[in-house]
Amino acid sequence: MVHDAVTFYSMFSLTPRGRHIVRLCESPNCHLAGAWSALDELRRLLDVGVGETTPDGEFTLELTSCLGACGVAPVMMVDDEVVGNLTPDRVRETLARYREGR
Ligand code: FES
Repeated sequence: MVHDAVTFYSMFSLTPRGRHIVRLCESPNCHLAGAWSALDELRRLLDVGVGETTPDGEFTLELTSCLGACGVAPVMMVDDEVVGNLTPDRVRETLARYREGR
């Protein structure tokens, strides 16, 4: 029963993840608003693919369904922080902030 819950919800994982989890919304509003540009920038900056963790163990990149913040699409969530109106610059600034521990 625990295994079923852990494997059903994307917030849980049976494999180790990075210190920070970056989840990019792939639902329609975010998709139409340019989530793939944000994904390109995330992949470029982190040098990992979706579902992978950076070699230093800092970030895991994942896709997720609607985060409930469609009004500011495209949206990603880093740990518990929702970051909207994503542009490549905003992606860069957000990751830099987490890398610096802010
Ligand atoms: S569709 Fe992305 S936050 Fe709702």
